Amino acid sequence: MLFWIFSFILATGVYLIVNPLITMFKLKLQFGKAVYCKYLPIFGIIQVYRKSFKITGNVHQWIIDIITKHPDVKFVVANSIHKPVIVLIDSEYYKYIYQNHDLVSKHDQSGIKDFLLQGGLLFTEGSKWQQQRKLLGDHFLFQKLKSRIPMINQVIKEKIIEMPKVEKVFEFICSITGEVVIRSFFGEEAEGWKINGKEAQIELGEIIVQFVKLRVNNFFVYFKQKVLGVKSWQYSTKKEKEVLDRVIKFKQDIKEVIFKRRDKIKQQGHKQEGGDFLDLYLKIFMEQNVYSSDRIETDEIVSQFITLFFAGTDTTGALVANCLLYISENKQYLHELRNEVKNVVGDGDITADNLNQLVLIESFLKEVMRVRPSVVYPIARKAKQNIQIKDLQIQKGTLLLLGNFLANICPLNYDNPLEFNPKRWLQQKPIIQDNGFINIPFAAGPRNCIGQHMAMIEAKIIMAHIVRNYDIVRNSQIPKVLWPSRGAQTFIPENSVHLLKV
Ligand code: HEM
Repeated sequence: MLFWIFSFILATGVYLIVNPLITMFKLKLQFGKAVYCKYLPIFGIIQVYRKSFKITGNVHQWIIDIITKHPDVKFVVANSIHKPVIVLIDSEYYKYIYQNHDLVSKHDQSGIKDFLLQGGLLFTEGSKWQQQRKLLGDHFLFQKLKSRIPMINQVIKEKIIEMPKVEKVFEFICSITGEVVIRSFFGEEAEGWKINGKEAQIELGEIIVQFVKLRVNNFFVYFKQKVLGVKSWQYSTKKEKEVLDRVIKFKQDIKEVIFKRRDKIKQQGHKQEGGDFLDLYLKIFMEQNVYSSDRIETDEIVSQFITLFFAGTDTTGALVANCLLYISENKQYLHELRNEVKNVVGDGDITADNLNQLVLIESFLKEVMRVRPSVVYPIARKAKQNIQIKDLQIQKGTLLLLGNFLANICPLNYDNPLEFNPKRWLQQKPIIQDNGFINIPFAAGPRNCIGQHMAMIEAKIIMAHIVRNYDIVRNSQIPKVLWPSRGAQTFIPENSVHLLKV
């Protein structure tokens, strides 16, 4: 008996160790130097990130170094325990995945998907995804979003009045971007909305960070989630239970806001125009056929709100926070951007017409997204079937990371790619050879970012108000900027900048 147990453990151990090596070996044999392998038995890529952060202060430095030293590398292959993970760096390969999104599924085991985002646009597939994209698509077009510009100005001005000095810049910006999503979805009902005694956006932001921290900081939780997937939550640790309790309370509070609005509509009828996302959903919800197969349930509305909040808050917050970091490192930038805002806008609110004229701010945002993107990798993909992309064969079940961030700093695609130079975007041809998939911070293809116009509108308006109202200085207590992992693969500089009212 003991012999069999021992043999089983040995065979499992050998499988866990050898399986990713087989893929690495095959790819190396086929592509030679165009493949770079990074193998760490059992621990795999998560340990590579940890080591990279420990040594360089940047979780992604290890792979940036690979691309810089070996620009011809098309794929980096690592392992997630026993599974091979292929990072597609050559744009011709990841382009195929963006264009054929049905061949892969989005892969997340952190619990964020299962408990918060299931049923929202980021993770739905097939006809449900199509229905949601069609429903929301129009409302994210620039023409429709224009009506939200006064609200965005208003939110920013309210926050600035409260804060003569800002020490936690990322949190400050996220309190703005989160509030904009909340007001876009729930309108005035959400003003001053508190959950568990905190502003709603702070509470949701903390819950999301907790999900990530549970996994990244605790190997036991990481392995449990890897091995058991969503079932691992049946064997929750005390900390996991605490997070789940907060999720339940949060969802309950959202439902109450939805029901309150539904009752109001029943009494007063639907708004004719200028409504928010909740109006849009409730119109369909209240008029739909009870028996229809694509019915919208209350849980879907809850998930959709959390999805838009999740996808829209930290991403836009990180973009602005990173811009402020670069400005703090070179006073000339502040001078130029402030002048642009003075000349284009003057002292008033930023209008829709101003947005196109803020060309320096726009090029600054673009360059920041190139070197410090808010979404370093889109959500990991898992091949639903065997996939052939040109000469690359991908086995069903393989994990893929779409590496457009790496193509965007590859010396084959840009002159001096690691140099921060916003003015490159004012040139005729900033990208050496562009196939349309090199500079895609908002992804590309049918599942690209639905909120990209909203993000750019918000980021430009926030930047304009901030450069006009604050001096932007480095926090002298943090001489080296650190880039830790936030799990969601976001570049966020840790408290490196302070804002001081002028
Ligand atoms: C700088 C800010 C932003 C960046 C860099 C960004 C980037 C991205 C990227 C790369 C994706 C593709 C994700 C994947 O394929 O795994 C995406 C999808 C998405 N984004 Fe954004 N995003 C930003 C802001 C926003 C905002 C403001 C919203 C809405 C309020 C939003 C809503 C979404 C949604 C719903 C999806 C899923 C679309 C679908 O699958 O059909 N994003 N975003």
